Amino acid sequence: MQVISISSLKGGVGKTSVTTGLASAALAAGIPTLVVDLDPHADASTALAVRPDDQLDIGRMLKSPRRARLAENVVPSGWVERARANGSSPASSAGSVLDVAVGSAYTGIYDRPDLGRRDLRRLSAVLAGAEGYELVLVDCPPSLNGLTRMAWSASDKVTLVAEPGLFSVAGTERTMRAIQLFKNEFAPNLSPAGIVANRVRSGSAEHTFRLSEMQSMFGELLLAPNIPEQANWQQIQGAAHAIHHWPGDSAKNAAALFDALLANLLKSNGSVRNRSQR
Ligand SMILES: Nc1ncnc2c1ncn2[C@@H]1O[C@H](COP(=O)(O)OP(=O)(O)OP(=O)(O)O)[C@@H](O)[C@H]1O
Ligand SMILES: [Mg+2]
Repeated sequence: MQVISISSLKGGVGKTSVTTGLASAALAAGIPTLVVDLDPHADASTALAVRPDDQLDIGRMLKSPRRARLAENVVPSGWVERARANGSSPASSAGSVLDVAVGSAYTGIYDRPDLGRRDLRRLSAVLAGAEGYELVLVDCPPSLNGLTRMAWSASDKVTLVAEPGLFSVAGTERTMRAIQLFKNEFAPNLSPAGIVANRVRSGSAEHTFRLSEMQSMFGELLLAPNIPEQANWQQIQGAAHAIHHWPGDSAKNAAALFDALLANLLKSNGSVRNRSQR
Protein backbone atom coordinates (compact mmCIF):
# COMPACT_ATOMS: atom_id res chain seq x y z
CA MET A 1 0.00 0.00 0.00
CA GLN A 2 1.33 3.39 -0.97
CA VAL A 3 0.17 6.49 0.93
CA ILE A 4 0.41 9.78 -0.97
CA SER A 5 -0.51 13.19 0.49
CA ILE A 6 -1.61 15.97 -1.83
CA SER A 7 -0.74 19.26 -0.18
CA SER A 8 0.22 22.89 -0.71
CA LEU A 9 1.01 25.96 1.32
CA LYS A 10 -1.64 27.95 -0.49
CA GLY A 11 -5.37 27.49 -0.79
CA GLY A 12 -7.34 27.01 -3.97
CA VAL A 13 -4.46 25.76 -6.14
CA GLY A 14 -6.16 22.47 -6.97
CA LYS A 15 -5.29 19.91 -4.26
CA THR A 16 -8.79 18.49 -4.19
CA SER A 17 -9.05 18.57 -7.98
CA VAL A 18 -5.76 16.69 -8.36
CA THR A 19 -6.78 14.22 -5.63
CA THR A 20 -10.08 13.47 -7.34
CA GLY A 21 -8.49 13.35 -10.81
CA LEU A 22 -6.00 10.77 -9.52
CA ALA A 23 -8.78 8.86 -7.75
CA SER A 24 -10.70 8.75 -11.02
CA ALA A 25 -7.62 7.44 -12.84
CA ALA A 26 -7.05 4.83 -10.11
CA LEU A 27 -10.67 3.64 -10.38
CA ALA A 28 -10.36 3.39 -14.16
CA ALA A 29 -7.09 1.47 -13.80
CA GLY A 30 -8.58 -0.95 -11.27
CA ILE A 31 -6.30 0.11 -8.41
CA PRO A 32 -8.12 -0.37 -5.07
CA THR A 33 -7.95 3.09 -3.52
CA LEU A 34 -8.91 4.95 -0.36
CA VAL A 35 -9.24 8.74 -0.32
CA VAL A 36 -8.77 10.31 3.11
CA ASP A 37 -10.49 13.69 3.20
CA LEU A 38 -8.45 15.53 5.79
CA ASP A 39 -9.71 19.01 4.90
CA PRO A 40 -12.33 20.28 7.39
CA HIS A 41 -14.24 21.68 4.39
CA ALA A 42 -14.69 18.12 3.11
CA ASP A 43 -14.66 19.13 -0.59
CA ALA A 44 -13.22 15.78 -1.68
CA SER A 45 -16.10 13.91 0.00
CA THR A 46 -18.56 16.09 -1.90
CA ALA A 47 -16.76 15.63 -5.22
CA LEU A 48 -16.56 11.87 -4.69
CA ALA A 49 -20.34 11.68 -4.23
CA VAL A 50 -20.30 9.92 -0.89
CA ARG A 51 -23.50 9.24 0.98
CA PRO A 52 -22.47 8.54 4.57
CA ASP A 53 -24.87 6.62 6.75
CA ASP A 54 -23.87 6.20 10.37
CA GLN A 55 -20.15 5.78 9.69
CA LEU A 56 -17.62 7.74 11.68
CA ASP A 57 -16.05 10.63 9.78
CA ILE A 58 -12.29 10.96 9.72
CA GLY A 59 -12.34 13.56 12.53
CA ARG A 60 -13.94 11.10 14.90
CA MET A 61 -11.68 8.29 13.75
CA LEU A 62 -8.67 10.49 14.50
CA LYS A 63 -10.02 11.24 17.95
CA SER A 64 -9.90 7.56 18.94
CA PRO A 65 -7.60 5.87 16.41
CA ARG A 66 -7.51 2.57 18.28
CA ARG A 67 -11.29 2.30 18.14
CA ALA A 68 -11.57 3.79 14.65
CA ARG A 69 -12.17 0.49 12.79
CA LEU A 70 -11.43 2.12 9.45
CA ALA A 71 -12.78 -0.75 7.35
CA GLU A 72 -16.25 -0.33 8.90
CA ASN A 73 -16.29 3.43 8.60
CA VAL A 74 -15.19 4.14 5.04
CA VAL A 75 -17.91 4.96 2.51
CA PRO A 76 -17.78 3.89 -1.15
CA SER A 77 -17.58 6.74 -3.62
CA GLY A 78 -20.77 7.16 -5.66
CA TRP A 79 -18.48 7.00 -8.73
CA VAL A 80 -18.15 3.22 -8.33
CA GLU A 81 -21.85 2.58 -8.78
CA ARG A 82 -21.97 4.96 -11.75
CA ALA A 83 -19.01 3.21 -13.36
CA ARG A 84 -20.82 -0.11 -12.97
CA ALA A 85 -24.07 1.35 -14.29
CA ASN A 86 -22.47 2.74 -17.45
CA GLY A 87 -20.36 -0.35 -18.04
CA SER A 88 -16.98 1.36 -17.55
CA SER A 89 -16.13 -0.56 -14.39
CA PRO A 90 -12.74 -2.27 -14.44
CA ALA A 91 -12.76 -5.94 -15.32
CA SER A 92 -11.74 -7.22 -11.89
CA SER A 93 -14.25 -6.56 -9.11
CA ALA A 94 -11.34 -6.03 -6.67
CA GLY A 95 -10.40 -3.08 -8.82
CA SER A 96 -13.77 -1.39 -8.39
CA VAL A 97 -12.82 -0.17 -4.95
CA LEU A 98 -12.80 3.56 -4.32
CA ASP A 99 -13.57 4.27 -0.67
CA VAL A 100 -13.60 7.54 1.22
CA ALA A 101 -12.74 8.32 4.83
CA VAL A 102 -15.26 11.13 4.98
CA GLY A 103 -14.18 14.66 5.87
CA SER A 104 -15.75 16.78 8.58
CA ALA A 105 -15.26 20.10 10.34
CA TYR A 106 -14.29 18.02 13.35
CA THR A 107 -10.77 17.49 11.97
CA GLY A 108 -10.23 21.23 12.52
CA ILE A 109 -9.30 20.63 16.16
CA TYR A 110 -6.02 19.10 14.95
CA ASP A 111 -5.11 21.90 12.53
CA ARG A 112 -2.87 23.70 15.00
CA PRO A 113 0.75 24.75 14.45
CA ASP A 114 1.88 23.08 17.69
CA LEU A 115 0.68 19.50 17.24
CA GLY A 116 2.77 17.12 19.36
CA ARG A 117 4.36 13.84 18.27
CA ARG A 118 1.56 11.74 19.68
CA ASP A 119 -1.09 13.68 17.76
CA LEU A 120 1.00 13.61 14.57
CA ARG A 121 0.74 9.82 14.58
CA ARG A 122 -3.07 9.71 14.72
CA LEU A 123 -3.60 9.20 10.98
CA SER A 124 -0.92 6.48 10.80
CA ALA A 125 -2.75 4.71 13.62
CA VAL A 126 -6.08 4.96 11.78
CA LEU A 127 -4.50 3.71 8.52
CA ALA A 128 -3.09 0.69 10.35
CA GLY A 129 -6.64 -0.63 9.94
CA ALA A 130 -6.57 -0.16 6.13
CA GLU A 131 -7.05 -3.45 4.33
CA GLY A 132 -6.94 -4.30 0.67
CA TYR A 133 -5.95 -0.90 -0.72
CA GLU A 134 -3.02 -0.44 -3.05
CA LEU A 135 -3.23 3.33 -2.91
CA VAL A 136 -4.25 5.87 -0.26
CA LEU A 137 -4.63 9.50 -1.35
CA VAL A 138 -4.80 12.10 1.42
CA ASP A 139 -6.39 15.44 0.47
CA CYS A 140 -4.85 18.04 2.79
CA PRO A 141 -6.14 21.43 3.94
CA PRO A 142 -4.46 24.61 2.63
CA SER A 143 -1.83 25.13 5.32
CA LEU A 144 1.19 23.38 6.75
CA ASN A 145 -0.42 23.12 10.17
CA GLY A 146 -1.18 20.01 12.19
CA LEU A 147 -3.43 18.20 9.71
CA THR A 148 -1.00 18.43 6.81
CA ARG A 149 1.85 17.33 9.06
CA MET A 150 -0.27 14.46 10.34
CA ALA A 151 -0.80 13.47 6.70
CA TRP A 152 2.94 13.67 5.94
CA SER A 153 3.67 11.60 8.99
CA ALA A 154 1.43 8.81 7.63
CA SER A 155 2.66 9.11 4.02
CA ASP A 156 5.30 7.50 1.83
CA LYS A 157 5.23 10.45 -0.55
CA VAL A 158 4.06 14.04 -0.68
CA THR A 159 2.76 15.61 -3.86
CA LEU A 160 2.64 19.39 -4.00
CA VAL A 161 0.20 21.22 -6.22
CA ALA A 162 1.16 24.63 -7.58
CA GLU A 163 -0.16 27.07 -10.11
CA PRO A 164 2.54 28.54 -12.35
CA GLY A 165 2.60 32.02 -10.75
CA LEU A 166 5.22 33.91 -8.77
CA PHE A 167 3.75 33.41 -5.29
CA SER A 168 2.96 29.78 -5.95
CA VAL A 169 6.50 29.02 -7.09
CA ALA A 170 7.95 30.72 -4.00
CA GLY A 171 5.42 28.89 -1.80
CA THR A 172 6.39 25.56 -3.35
CA GLU A 173 10.04 26.15 -2.54
CA ARG A 174 9.15 26.98 1.07
CA THR A 175 7.00 23.86 1.27
CA MET A 176 9.88 21.73 -0.06
CA ARG A 177 12.05 23.08 2.77
CA ALA A 178 9.29 22.34 5.28
CA ILE A 179 9.10 18.74 4.00
CA GLN A 180 12.87 18.41 4.40
CA LEU A 181 12.74 19.63 8.02
CA PHE A 182 9.78 17.39 8.77
CA LYS A 183 11.52 14.41 7.19
CA ASN A 184 14.66 15.00 9.27
CA GLU A 185 12.74 15.28 12.50
CA PHE A 186 9.75 12.99 12.20
CA ALA A 187 9.59 10.91 9.02
CA PRO A 188 12.91 9.62 7.65
CA ASN A 189 11.17 7.54 4.97
CA LEU A 190 9.12 10.39 3.52
CA SER A 191 9.94 11.56 0.02
CA PRO A 192 8.38 14.18 -2.24
CA ALA A 193 6.72 12.42 -5.13
CA GLY A 194 6.89 15.69 -6.98
CA ILE A 195 5.09 18.84 -7.96
CA VAL A 196 1.99 19.00 -10.12
CA ALA A 197 1.57 22.23 -12.07
CA ASN A 198 -2.18 22.83 -12.27
CA ARG A 199 -4.41 25.28 -14.15
CA VAL A 200 -1.76 25.85 -16.78
CA ARG A 201 -2.87 28.14 -19.61
CA SER A 202 -0.96 27.22 -22.75
CA GLY A 203 -1.28 30.69 -24.31
CA SER A 204 -0.03 32.54 -21.22
CA ALA A 205 3.51 33.97 -21.44
CA GLU A 206 3.59 34.28 -17.64
CA HIS A 207 2.70 30.59 -17.21
CA THR A 208 5.31 29.53 -19.76
CA PHE A 209 7.93 31.58 -17.92
CA ARG A 210 6.97 30.25 -14.47
CA LEU A 211 6.90 26.67 -15.73
CA SER A 212 10.44 26.94 -17.06
CA GLU A 213 11.45 28.55 -13.76
CA MET A 214 9.91 25.61 -11.89
CA GLN A 215 11.67 23.20 -14.23
CA SER A 216 15.07 24.72 -13.45
CA MET A 217 14.33 24.95 -9.70
CA PHE A 218 12.85 21.52 -9.16
CA GLY A 219 14.16 19.47 -12.08
CA GLU A 220 12.67 15.99 -12.25
CA LEU A 221 10.47 16.73 -9.24
CA LEU A 222 8.22 18.71 -11.57
CA LEU A 223 5.89 15.93 -12.62
CA ALA A 224 4.64 15.33 -16.13
CA PRO A 225 2.14 16.02 -17.46
CA ASN A 226 0.95 19.48 -16.37
CA ILE A 227 -2.78 19.83 -15.84
CA PRO A 228 -4.23 22.60 -18.00
CA GLU A 229 -7.01 25.01 -17.10
CA GLN A 230 -10.10 22.98 -17.92
CA ALA A 231 -13.17 25.05 -18.87
CA ASN A 232 -15.78 22.52 -17.66
CA TRP A 233 -13.94 21.41 -14.51
CA GLN A 234 -16.32 23.16 -12.09
CA GLN A 235 -19.31 21.75 -13.91
CA ILE A 236 -17.89 18.21 -13.61
CA GLN A 237 -17.09 18.70 -9.92
CA GLY A 238 -20.47 20.32 -9.29
CA ALA A 239 -22.14 17.22 -10.68
CA ALA A 240 -19.89 15.07 -8.42
CA HIS A 241 -18.70 13.12 -11.46
CA ALA A 242 -15.45 11.37 -12.21
CA ILE A 243 -13.52 12.96 -15.06
CA HIS A 244 -13.30 9.49 -16.65
CA HIS A 245 -17.10 9.27 -16.81
CA TRP A 246 -17.82 12.73 -18.21
CA PRO A 247 -18.75 12.84 -21.89
CA GLY A 248 -16.81 14.76 -24.51
CA ASP A 249 -13.31 15.04 -25.88
CA SER A 250 -12.02 17.62 -23.40
CA ALA A 251 -12.90 15.37 -20.44
CA LYS A 252 -11.37 12.41 -22.27
CA ASN A 253 -8.13 14.36 -22.78
CA ALA A 254 -8.06 15.46 -19.14
CA ALA A 255 -8.71 11.86 -18.02
CA ALA A 256 -5.72 10.70 -20.09
CA LEU A 257 -3.55 13.34 -18.40
CA PHE A 258 -4.54 12.04 -14.97
CA ASP A 259 -3.83 8.45 -16.12
CA ALA A 260 -0.30 9.53 -17.07
CA LEU A 261 0.15 11.58 -13.91
CA LEU A 262 -0.90 8.66 -11.72
CA ALA A 263 1.50 6.33 -13.52
CA ASN A 264 4.37 8.80 -13.08
CA LEU A 265 3.48 9.44 -9.45
CA LEU A 266 3.44 5.76 -8.60
CA LYS A 267 6.85 5.19 -10.13
CA SER A 268 8.50 8.44 -8.97
CA ASN A 269 10.97 8.18 -6.18
CA GLY A 270 12.15 11.74 -5.53
CA SER A 271 14.52 12.49 -2.69
CA VAL A 272 14.42 15.77 -0.80
CA ARG A 273 17.96 15.24 0.40
CA ASN A 274 19.41 14.86 -3.07
CA ARG A 275 17.71 17.98 -4.34
CA SER A 276 18.70 20.21 -1.46
CA GLN A 277 22.32 19.04 -1.68
CA ARG A 278 22.66 20.39 -5.19
N1 LIG B 1 -7.28 22.43 -13.86
C1 LIG B 1 -8.32 23.18 -13.50
N2 LIG B 1 -9.07 23.82 -14.45
C2 LIG B 1 -10.12 24.59 -14.10
N3 LIG B 1 -10.51 24.80 -12.84
C3 LIG B 1 -9.80 24.22 -11.86
C4 LIG B 1 -8.67 23.38 -12.13
N4 LIG B 1 -8.17 22.94 -10.95
C5 LIG B 1 -8.95 23.47 -10.00
N5 LIG B 1 -9.93 24.23 -10.53
C6 LIG B 1 -10.97 24.99 -9.79
O1 LIG B 1 -10.32 25.83 -8.86
C7 LIG B 1 -11.03 25.84 -7.64
C8 LIG B 1 -10.09 25.39 -6.52
O2 LIG B 1 -9.76 24.04 -6.78
P1 LIG B 1 -9.62 22.98 -5.60
O3 LIG B 1 -10.81 23.06 -4.68
O4 LIG B 1 -9.30 21.68 -6.20
O5 LIG B 1 -8.34 23.58 -4.86
P2 LIG B 1 -7.80 23.24 -3.41
O6 LIG B 1 -6.34 23.50 -3.42
O7 LIG B 1 -8.25 21.91 -2.98
O8 LIG B 1 -8.57 24.35 -2.54
P3 LIG B 1 -8.56 24.45 -0.93
O9 LIG B 1 -7.24 25.00 -0.57
O10 LIG B 1 -9.71 25.38 -0.65
O11 LIG B 1 -8.77 23.07 -0.41
C9 LIG B 1 -12.24 24.95 -7.80
O12 LIG B 1 -13.35 25.73 -8.12
C10 LIG B 1 -11.86 24.06 -8.98
O13 LIG B 1 -12.98 23.63 -9.71
MG1 LIG C 1 -9.27 21.31 -1.28
